[in-house]
Amino acid sequence: MRRIAILTSGGDAPGMNAAIRALTRKAIHEGFEIFGIERGYLGIIEEKIFPLSNRDVGGIITQGGTMLKTARFPEFQNEEIQRKAYDILKTYDIDHLVVIGGDGSMRGATSLSKLGMSTMTIPCTIDNDMGGTQYTIGYDTALNTVVDAVGRIRDTSNSHERVAIVEVMGRKAGHIALKAGLACGAEIVLVPENPMPLHAVCRHLKETQIRGKEYSVILVAEGAYNSGEVKAFIKEHTEFDPSLTVLGYLQRGGGPSAFDAILAARMSEVCINLLMSGVANRLVGYIDGHIRALSYEEAERLEFPIDEKDYRLLSILSS
Ligand code: F6P
Repeated sequence: MRRIAILTSGGDAPGMNAAIRALTRKAIHEGFEIFGIERGYLGIIEEKIFPLSNRDVGGIITQGGTMLKTARFPEFQNEEIQRKAYDILKTYDIDHLVVIGGDGSMRGATSLSKLGMSTMTIPCTIDNDMGGTQYTIGYDTALNTVVDAVGRIRDTSNSHERVAIVEVMGRKAGHIALKAGLACGAEIVLVPENPMPLHAVCRHLKETQIRGKEYSVILVAEGAYNSGEVKAFIKEHTEFDPSLTVLGYLQRGGGPSAFDAILAARMSEVCINLLMSGVANRLVGYIDGHIRALSYEEAERLEFPIDEKDYRLLSILSS
């Protein structure tokens, strides 16, 4: 019987549990033995490796977080540690390793595959910042969380006729900020890909006030600006005194949206099918409505940056 191990790594994201469940059940259905590894790559070194059954993954599909725990383990960039991990996996007779995580996690899988391990990566991060896929599991849920939160902030900003600054995650990418801005009607979105000078932000706020807007919402992607500095700048250069809300880890929690749970199921199915047919060392991505697996090199090259059309549309609609 062939053995598959799965781990979750990097920042957690809604849908990780749905992917663990789908991988486990699909793999068992196809006759594999399946093992969970706790705490990501660190768990390989700590030998936190244990068998998973269909029952072990019962009831987790709607739960946020990851039942396998996760960890950031920058030491895994060290080749000696990678070799140690490879050797440990081999002592457990693991034939394939499936990594659920973001781009750092995929790089870990790439390194292990270069040492001869058969690996697959399921893209899972709220940031949606991975090459080779238009959607990462967790992004849609985080977007919905942000839209819900901004709606509430908008209510109170409206009552108090105030400018509201809301900082969202996304690391170096503006996907969450831009799409959430479009979905909740933000007046201004600051993303790292399209830097808007703060003087222009102030000018925009004054113009919208002249046009009769009583309040404005500014979404700041964490990679674009320090939101505290944005607030201080606006306060210094205008008569506005903005509120500031940093949504933070709220965006990573919660059960997956239907879209993310279904994406997790479909990607997991393709992942196990590919391993059965002898294909490995791939990122399982979502491209133009289809689940497609690309080599790690292709995935790194095929970037899906923020949609400039969305950015232009947002500024038209926020007038
Ligand atoms: O990658 C997911 C993410 O939530 C980013 O949006 C954010 O920059 C980062 O992780 C926060 O990381 P940590 O959990 O190490 O604080």
